[in-house]
Amino acid sequence: MSHVFLYGPPGTGKSTVGEHLAHRLSLPFVDLDVEIARASGRSISDLMAEGETVFRDLETAALFQAIGGPPSVIALGGGALLRAANRCCAQEHGRIVCLDADHATLLARLSQDEMPRPLLQEAPAAQLADLLAARRTHYRSFPTRIRLTGEADQGTSPPSAIADEIVRRLECLHVRTPDSGGYDVVLRSGGLAELGGELRMRDLAGPVAVVADDTVAHLYGRQAVESLKRAGYQVHLATFPAGERSKTIDTVATLWNEILDAGLGRTSCVVALGGGVTGDLAGFAAATFMRGIDWVGVPTTLLAMVDASVGGKTGIDLPDGKNLAGAFHHPRLVLVDPYVLETLPERDLRAGMAEVAKHGIVGDVDLFGIVEGGWDAVQRELVDVIRRALVVKVQVVEADPLERGIRASLNLGHTVGHAVEVASDYTLRHGEAVAIGLVAEALLAEALDVAQPGIAERTRRALRRLGLPVAIPDDISSEAIVRAMIADKKRASGAVHFTLPVAIGEVRTGFAVRDLRAALTACLAPASADDSRAATSPATDAPATDRRSRGEHG
Ligand SMILES: NC(=O)c1ccc[n+]([C@@H]2O[C@H](COP(=O)([O-])OP(=O)(O)OC[C@H]3O[C@@H](n4cnc5c(N)ncnc54)[C@H](O)[C@@H]3O)[C@@H](O)[C@H]2O)c1
Ligand SMILES: [Zn+2]
Repeated sequence: MSHVFLYGPPGTGKSTVGEHLAHRLSLPFVDLDVEIARASGRSISDLMAEGETVFRDLETAALFQAIGGPPSVIALGGGALLRAANRCCAQEHGRIVCLDADHATLLARLSQDEMPRPLLQEAPAAQLADLLAARRTHYRSFPTRIRLTGEADQGTSPPSAIADEIVRRLECLHVRTPDSGGYDVVLRSGGLAELGGELRMRDLAGPVAVVADDTVAHLYGRQAVESLKRAGYQVHLATFPAGERSKTIDTVATLWNEILDAGLGRTSCVVALGGGVTGDLAGFAAATFMRGIDWVGVPTTLLAMVDASVGGKTGIDLPDGKNLAGAFHHPRLVLVDPYVLETLPERDLRAGMAEVAKHGIVGDVDLFGIVEGGWDAVQRELVDVIRRALVVKVQVVEADPLERGIRASLNLGHTVGHAVEVASDYTLRHGEAVAIGLVAEALLAEALDVAQPGIAERTRRALRRLGLPVAIPDDISSEAIVRAMIADKKRASGAVHFTLPVAIGEVRTGFAVRDLRAALTACLAPASADDSRAATSPATDAPATDRRSRGEHG
């Protein structure tokens, strides 16, 4: 987790709230004013008396020092982010939460201070009013703002409640969509039990159909249904056989009929409870039922949490290939509860890490760094790994909601990956096929001089450390992969389009490759027999060999 900065006008209780928040997040607490006084051996009032610039310089130095330390909750002085450089640095290294209250509330709180605040010593009421007027636009420019007052006449909420509210807000990402107000992605351990309340909060109407495959229905169906019933919804649980083979129009047709019988109408809502298959199927059923009804994603695999559930792509497979029919239909909410990963088979958890690694390569060098730390490191930081991967997905999806350009960057590893998945007759998990695709496409990028040398080896090594296969299994021929690729929907005017890595954290889209056979020869040869081993057998951490010196890609 990165830093959390608490900011806002004097009197908002940043220090007290900060202590509660740090406790809730198990992070150290840093009070910047205390650090400045300690470092200079003087009180803040003394320093301010010498001139605001003197104090602000010390404040900037203290801020930069705190940012260089371990992830912490950092309470800032009320003007600490007025300097653009300070603000930029804080934004880059964490999340800023701005506390807020009206003049009367702040004045009442400040009057209880033993020592008057430096800028409010002579005529506190007037000085505070001036300060708030001067900084109003500044404070309002921070997107995450929390007001101290709850209901009218109830006074301010206690610091612990404000800290809880901050935690809730930090658990939430928001995806902006061009056609509507967008939707929240709530990342909350234990959130499944609150599903009903989350739907109510967003004014979603019933009856609700929870769609789950039989495995997930058995594990979590009841919990979801009960939460929805507690919130007053009429609920129907619709199930289908687990697995990619169910992602067909026949299953969708069965779902349409079932939810119609269950009384769902134009204003009803579908909840997709499960992995990527369930999200794609139930989302597509919702997109097409009565020309489109609301749906909510409750992803239960890592892959679905970090990738499939966000972005509004829904669809089904056809006999000729994956995802060949579908629709863009954004969910109204995505609720990610990492607790449910406890029951996910390790093979699926590892497979999901391939998409996490992909997101690191696409746009988060630090995330890729965690991935390179291996299986224990990603497990230890699982919630943060999920959050970071989600942030990349949200950013890309927002920049290109209909996949007309930059969103194709998320196809990294998938041009080869989809073909490998189909050619394996779905014996490989989607994520395993993507792992093979990520390495193959990195090799292709090196062969085409698009990528920095060594990126393929770095990718291969990281994925091996997660126990993922990184080369095609012996029983799949390159011919089968070429055939599958030609059927791939990304084919356009005779060429297959690749997204290729340039560096970790940077990819380029739209590389047309006409001679697939030649391209595949360059990028599909295994570096070692171990590379194509299934993810179920954990990888060793042995150093990778230099494939160039072994002349394996001709
Ligand atoms: N729409 C998109 O943007 C997008 C993006 C990436 C992938 N996808 C699609 O996602 C699909 C792959 O997703 P997936 O790997 O999640 O497959 P999946 O939905 O089939 O889930 C994998 C297996 O895990 C089981 N499972 C799910 N959650 C569990 C839990 N918490 N505990 C125990 N078992 C659990 C399921 O029953 C299933 O057997 C592919 O069809 C792919 O095309 C879609
Ligand atoms: Zn994928």
